[in-house]
Amino acid sequence: MSDDKQPTFTLINNQTGEESILPVVEGTYGPHCIDVRKLYSQTGYFTFDPSFTATGSCKSKITYIDGDEGILLHRGYNIKELAVKSTYMEVCHLLLHGELPNEAELKEFSGHITNHTMVHEQVKSVYQGFRRDAHPMAIMCGVVGTMAAFYHDSLDIWDPEQRRISAHRLIAKMPTMAAMALKYSKGQPYVYPRNDLTYAENFLHMCFSVPAEEYKLRPPVVRAMERILILHADHEQNASTSTVRLAGSSQANPMACIASGITSLWGPAHGGANQSVLEMLDEIGDKKNIPEFIKRAKDKEDPFRLMGFGHRVYKNFDPRAEIMRESCHEVLEELGINDPQLELAMELEKIALEDPYFIDRKLFPNVDFYSGIILKAMGFPVEMFTVLFAVSRTAGWISQWKEMMEEKSLRIGRPRQLYTGEAERPYVEVSKRK
Ligand code: ACO
Repeated sequence: MSDDKQPTFTLINNQTGEESILPVVEGTYGPHCIDVRKLYSQTGYFTFDPSFTATGSCKSKITYIDGDEGILLHRGYNIKELAVKSTYMEVCHLLLHGELPNEAELKEFSGHITNHTMVHEQVKSVYQGFRRDAHPMAIMCGVVGTMAAFYHDSLDIWDPEQRRISAHRLIAKMPTMAAMALKYSKGQPYVYPRNDLTYAENFLHMCFSVPAEEYKLRPPVVRAMERILILHADHEQNASTSTVRLAGSSQANPMACIASGITSLWGPAHGGANQSVLEMLDEIGDKKNIPEFIKRAKDKEDPFRLMGFGHRVYKNFDPRAEIMRESCHEVLEELGINDPQLELAMELEKIALEDPYFIDRKLFPNVDFYSGIILKAMGFPVEMFTVLFAVSRTAGWISQWKEMMEEKSLRIGRPRQLYTGEAERPYVEVSKRK
């Protein structure tokens, strides 16, 4: 018998007439969820949702997205406000600890992060094992995983203090490790972090300083870097975050979990899209070629897609893309860069947004469409774009991991499947196989 006040869903098997009552769980916003945890024991059936288009995989208090309205909130704060009013350090504190820090808390938190920016000297030798032309994301997958070999004192996942230290270490060391990957590929000496700089300034300094010449920090570039970091900091249960949570559910250490997130982020359908956008613009080459590429993007026989367009959740403009678009113009203008790729991108955006194929499917430019152009203007090679995304997203990944670890009971994530292979059959000796 169901309680009238408790919303439920009744599932009826139209062959047997059997009924199952499933509870409905409600959050602050967003679609309510049918709680199917007891479905198998009640009915003997699983749910089938291969790419999780209608599945809530966890409860979370960190980020909310309304894809139809183009809204993104972190702990209740709108990304549009955070991007213009906050610093990345404030956003990291917000994601990790649930509240925007007051001045004293911010000072303490930033101090902790600054204290952890250096990496163990031995980490340098890990880089030496890679080819100089290795993709920096390949280096990051390896180096971040090896952190577990260097920081044994914060790997006890059941100790809240060790979890906190690991989170701070990861947020603090990611820019250092990313900058080292860049320097290694260029054959330049690694640049040590500087404690007198902000997180964004320090990252730019480690990427672009050389012993012969100090890198001059330019305010528009620093501002844009701060904004890129904020805009990519977290995005609910996307592929990489779900990967981190799934890895963490097996009680793996946080360094290993973040390394797994990096591997998932690398794909061009996810964080790798910003690199792919520039490669696509290169391939298009000229405005006159746009119609041909639009035609290819619409052709189901052709694997080509407009990179930087479309999103699983946003079926309206990606709010991060709006802010990134503004930043993109600001940076190029202030740096006096006249980038033909930006002009090409603007034209592509205009044509695609007027095309019924893209309008009908609600395909808008996403955050990656513009971030690549800004990063290029800053002087980053395309291979580094996804690495920058990983640097920023580490705050979200580790906050989501921490949230999961703080739940009362941690159960390993274990999806089931719809088996469509061979039925059981007799073994045939090798000499008798056809
Ligand atoms: N170019 C052309 N057609 C597209 C594109 C695109 N970029 N994106 C989606 N479509 C089409 C699909 O072919 C499909 O058409 P159909 O209904 O006729 O079959 C329809 O739009 C719906 O697309 P899905 O593939 O169902 O969308 P899904 O949610 O699975 O994929 C994704 C979302 C992966 C982002 C997709 O839009 C894509 O590949 N975009 C390009 C890569 C990209 O920019 N990724 C970055 C995402 S943002 C981020 O990770 C930060």
